[in-house]
Amino acid sequence: MERKVEVFDDDVTEAEIAVHLREEGYYHAPPKFIAQANLTDPDIFKRFSLENFPECFKEYADLLTWSKYWEKTLDTSNAPFWRWFVGGKLNACYNCVDRHLEKHRNKAAIHFVPEIESEPIIHMTYQELFMRVNELAAFLRNFCGLKTGDRVTLHMPMVAELPITMLACARIGVIHSQVFSGFSGRAVVDRMIDSGSDILITMDGYYRNGVLQNHKGQADVACEHAHEHDFNIEKVLIWQRHPGTYSSKRPLVEGRDFIINDMLKHYHHTTIDPVQMSAEAPLFLMYTSGTTGKPKGCQHSTGGYLAYAAGTARIVQDIHPEDVYWCMADIGWITGHTYIVYGPLALGASTVIYEGVPTYPDAGRPWRIAEELGVNIFHTSPTAIRALRRSGPDEPKKHNYHFKHMTTVGEPIEPEVWKWYYEVVGKGEAVIVDTWWQTETGGVLCSTVPGLHPMKPGTAGPGMPGIHVVIYDEDGNEIPRGANRAGNICIRNPWPGIFQTIWGDSERFVKSYYAHYNKKEKSTDWRDWPYFASDGAVQTEDGYYRILGRIDDVINVAGHRLGSKEIESAALTVDEVAEAAVVPVADEIKGRIPDLYVALKPGFQPSHELEQRISAAVVSEISPIARPRRVWIVPDMPKTRSGKIMRRVLAAISSGSDTGDVSTLANPEIVAELRKMANP
Ligand code: WT7
Repeated sequence: MERKVEVFDDDVTEAEIAVHLREEGYYHAPPKFIAQANLTDPDIFKRFSLENFPECFKEYADLLTWSKYWEKTLDTSNAPFWRWFVGGKLNACYNCVDRHLEKHRNKAAIHFVPEIESEPIIHMTYQELFMRVNELAAFLRNFCGLKTGDRVTLHMPMVAELPITMLACARIGVIHSQVFSGFSGRAVVDRMIDSGSDILITMDGYYRNGVLQNHKGQADVACEHAHEHDFNIEKVLIWQRHPGTYSSKRPLVEGRDFIINDMLKHYHHTTIDPVQMSAEAPLFLMYTSGTTGKPKGCQHSTGGYLAYAAGTARIVQDIHPEDVYWCMADIGWITGHTYIVYGPLALGASTVIYEGVPTYPDAGRPWRIAEELGVNIFHTSPTAIRALRRSGPDEPKKHNYHFKHMTTVGEPIEPEVWKWYYEVVGKGEAVIVDTWWQTETGGVLCSTVPGLHPMKPGTAGPGMPGIHVVIYDEDGNEIPRGANRAGNICIRNPWPGIFQTIWGDSERFVKSYYAHYNKKEKSTDWRDWPYFASDGAVQTEDGYYRILGRIDDVINVAGHRLGSKEIESAALTVDEVAEAAVVPVADEIKGRIPDLYVALKPGFQPSHELEQRISAAVVSEISPIARPRRVWIVPDMPKTRSGKIMRRVLAAISSGSDTGDVSTLANPEIVAELRKMANP
C-alpha cells in the first residue's frame, strides 16, 4: 500500500521524501598520499563486480595464512545463514601474531598509552605479544578448563591486556564477548546469561579523567546480580592495572576471584599451539542494541570476518606494516575489534591503545600522543571531533605531527565539523574517509577508497569493492541515483564480514535483517536476500551514499521526514554552536516537530538573539517545515560514556516524560538541570 504524503507534496511516497542537504564540493588526495597508497587501481571495482561474485573475495582471503585452504567460496544452501570459505582452517591469533615474527619480531605491535601522562608508554613488540598471549592461553585452557567453542565474557578497559586476552581466546578457539567497560555489572550479567558464559575476565582498575576507577567493584555487582537470576559466575579473573599491586579496595572472594598476574607465574614461557579452527567457527560475540528487545549478540566468524577486517583495513585505512596507526575508539565496540585489534594486527602494523578520555588533561592530549609516537593514521568519531573542536580548536597547530590519513565513523559528520577535521586536525595534508558500517557488518560497507575517489564532506562514499548497495522505498522499488529521494539502504549481496546470526535467536536474525525485502522465503539464491541495514540514505548523482541516520531517528514533520542530522548540521553552520542534537516532540497539527538542543563553544553566552539566529539558520538551510519548536542553549549534552549524545533523554525532557535510568551516563547530573530549564 502506498501512503501518500499529502500536506506538502502529493507525488511522493513516504519513503521517497525530498532531501534537503546542501551539496558540498570535492576534496582531492595529495599526490604524496597516492604515491604510497595500497590501492590506486580502479579495476578493483571490475574485479569485484556482481558477475565475479562471490569468487572476488578470494582477494581478501588471500591476505590471511590458512592451515588448510578453503574449497568453496560461499555456501548459500541455508540462506540467509551464509557460510564463507567453506572447508578452510585457520587461527586468528596465528594470523595476527605468530606469522609476523619472522619479519617483525622486534617491531612494536601495541603502543599502550596510559591516561596519566607521567606514566610511561608501553611499547610491546610482536615477540612480547606472542609470549604474553601464549602464557594466558595456556592458563585459560589448563587452569580454567576452557575449550574450543566455549564463551568467555570480558569487561575490560582500554589496556594492552584486552587484545592480549582476545587473542589468547582466539588461540584456543574460545569465543570472546567483550562488554564495553563503561557498562555496569548488571549489563555484563545480562550478556553472560544470554551467551551462556560463566567466566568473567576483568581488571582491578583503570584511569578515567585522572581517577582510578574501582572496576573490580563492577564484577562484584555482576556476581550479585547473577544470583538474583539464578545464574552463577564461576570465576572472576582479574588483571592488575599496575602489575604486582592490587588496585581495588574490594576483597577477593576465595575460590572465585583470581589475580591473573599471579597465576601467570606458573605459565612462564609456556607456549601452546594455535588451534586450527574452521573458517565458520565463531570468533567473537559483540552485543548491540536494536530498536526493541534485549541486546543482540552479533556472532562473527573466524575466516570471513578476519579476511574482511584485513582487506578493508588495507584498502580503506591504507595500513602498511610500517605505519603507526591510532584508532581512538574503544575496543568495547565493533570499531575497536575490527580496526584496533584484528585488522591492523593481521596486517602487521603498530596499533595504539589509549586508556583514557581524549580531552584529559586538556584538549591537546591527542596531538601530543600523535607527535610522541609518530602516528600517521588517525581514526575517530564525529562526536570526538566535535568535542576536541569545542574545547581546543587551535590545539592541533601547536604540535608537530603529520597524518597521511584520517577516518571518521559512527554517525553522519556535519560538513562544518568535517572541514575542521580536514583543515585543522589534518593540516590539509591528510585524506579523510567517512566510513559507514555497523556492528553487524564486521567492517566498512561504504566509503571512498582514499587513493581512488575524491572526498565529499558529510558523505560516506560509494559501496566498497564487492559491496553492492541499493536503496529501496517501502514497497521495494529501487530509488535511482540522483533522484534526490531517500529510502532504506540495503546490500544486495552477502560479504565475508557479515555476522553469522544473533546468538541464540536465529529467528530474530532473519526477521530484523532479511525479512524486509525478501521475496521468496525458502530461496537459496543470495539475490533474494538483500541485507536491511535500518538506515535511511540517499545516493547522489556521483554514486556516493549520504547516510541520514537510523530509520527510527527520522523526524516526521507533517509527513516530511527530516533527518535529525540535517537539522543538526544546519545549526552547526552558526559559528557559536559546538554541538547540536534534535529530538521530536509531539505537535497537534504537524504530528512531530523538532526541538533543538545546542551547546556553545567556550567564550559565548546564551541569548535570545542567538536562539533566533540558530532557528533562522535551520529555516534557511532546510525549510520552514524544519523550524524548531524551541532552541535550547544548554551547558552540556547528556552523554553516554562512549560520548554519544543521548537523544532519548533529551526527547524525554522535551516531552516532559520519564527519562528512565540515567545513572550510566557520563554526566547524569545534567539531566535535572535541563529538566528545570525546560519545565521551570
Ligand atoms: C549505525 C551503526 C560501525 C561502527 C560504529 C557504529 C551509524 C555508522 C556512520 C557514518 C553515518 C553512520 C548508522 C549505523 N553510522 N557509521 N560514517 N555515517 N552514520 O556501529 O553501533 O552498530 O552503529 O551507526 O546509523 O547504522 P553501531
